[in-house]
Amino acid sequence: MQSATDSFLECNAQGLRQAKELEMNRRNAHRQVMKLVLSVSLWVPCWTALAQAMPLDVLHWWTSAGEQLAVEQLHASLLLSGVRWTDVAVPGGGGMAAVKVLKSRVLMGDPPDVAQLIGTTLTDWNDMGLVMPLNAVANRQRWAPTLFPTVMKLVTYKGVVIAAPLGIHRINTLFYNRHVFTRLGLLPPANWEEFEGVAHKLSAQGIKPLAWSDEAWQIATVFESILLGEVGPERYRELIVNRKSSAWLEPGIEKALTRLRWLRNINGGSPKERAWTDATRDLASESAAMQIMGDWAKGELMAWGANPEKDFGCVAVPGTQQMHLYSVDTLAMLWSKSKRTATQEKLAEVVTSSPTQLAYNRAKGSVPVRADTDVASLDSCARDSWSVFAAPGSARVPSLAHRMAADEATKDAVAQALWRFLITPQMPAKAAQRRLASAVRAP
Ligand code: BGC
Repeated sequence: MQSATDSFLECNAQGLRQAKELEMNRRNAHRQVMKLVLSVSLWVPCWTALAQAMPLDVLHWWTSAGEQLAVEQLHASLLLSGVRWTDVAVPGGGGMAAVKVLKSRVLMGDPPDVAQLIGTTLTDWNDMGLVMPLNAVANRQRWAPTLFPTVMKLVTYKGVVIAAPLGIHRINTLFYNRHVFTRLGLLPPANWEEFEGVAHKLSAQGIKPLAWSDEAWQIATVFESILLGEVGPERYRELIVNRKSSAWLEPGIEKALTRLRWLRNINGGSPKERAWTDATRDLASESAAMQIMGDWAKGELMAWGANPEKDFGCVAVPGTQQMHLYSVDTLAMLWSKSKRTATQEKLAEVVTSSPTQLAYNRAKGSVPVRADTDVASLDSCARDSWSVFAAPGSARVPSLAHRMAADEATKDAVAQALWRFLITPQMPAKAAQRRLASAVRAP
């Protein structure tokens, strides 16, 4: 007999196929109508949901293979609840381009119904009067006692719930290629000394130790993980959350910057600016053996057919064990022309429900925002991330590079200062520290 979960997943998959067919239908009407008629007779309940679904346009930057698979899980679940997700996907890792498109749509008086707005930038959009409150859904769905307190705090501003949380990414993740490590008898490094030893052996075999890209947001992603390991969670909070400008002139920052420069040069040659997926491709193809990246890279590797138990593994970036440098993805409902408040609330309800949380996060590489998740159903990387995030004694610290700790302008200024430091080999770390100290001002 089919379990409730099985029928949910089956209907989900069917809903997804039908949604895709509907898209293609625009191109080839007759053939697709015939196909849909056939599938309707088999899947009347799903089809009814599709036909009656209310559209919501959703602006986001999930365009890689793994990200799209994750979005498809949301499409499918939403369809069953009468919501049709209309994609406004803007390519560009880290969301630089998406945020620009969102700004211009808002300026033109045409905001999307839903937008991927995350972290502290959420409150800026809220202050402009653009974000719809979600207290009614949050109360009905008991978010406060169900979601992790850190997540609940992140989506609550002045007592108002302003976004629906989707998943928790761990930024301080070091990925390694299991095949390369096994072949060379290597163990994933737990500290920088071990990392240096491993890197040396990899280079001797002609394998790049670390997949790298010079894009500013990727540099900032690597840097904040190194920084956390170097200065520890308390100092990290002082630097990133309290944004104590003078703290950026301390010796720990110089060490972290020197480490960053060393990592960039570890492969030899001249590093390039490229998409994060290209760097992850190096890891998958064994041309590089490790990568430091948020765990959306896990979703990507899995979308390409790799398995976290067999093909690649994840450990904390050296020095950050039992620390969780997080970035929580959230969707904000905007006051848009379409005035579909009930449908927007439905979206918030569905994306935070247990089955959708599991389906989405398994594909995305992140972990569910619900504290009642069955951890046994997660892969080993996700189990580790979830357990560290959930443990009362762990240090949970927000990512600056991914908007959890500062406004868009501060985040960009920090990323820019780090990028400038790296592409200017003659710049002393102390000069970069001065730039960082002036970029980071107390909130
Ligand atoms: C987002 C992730 C996304 C990543 C790469 C991060 O800022 O939180 O959801 O996968 O950027 O684009």
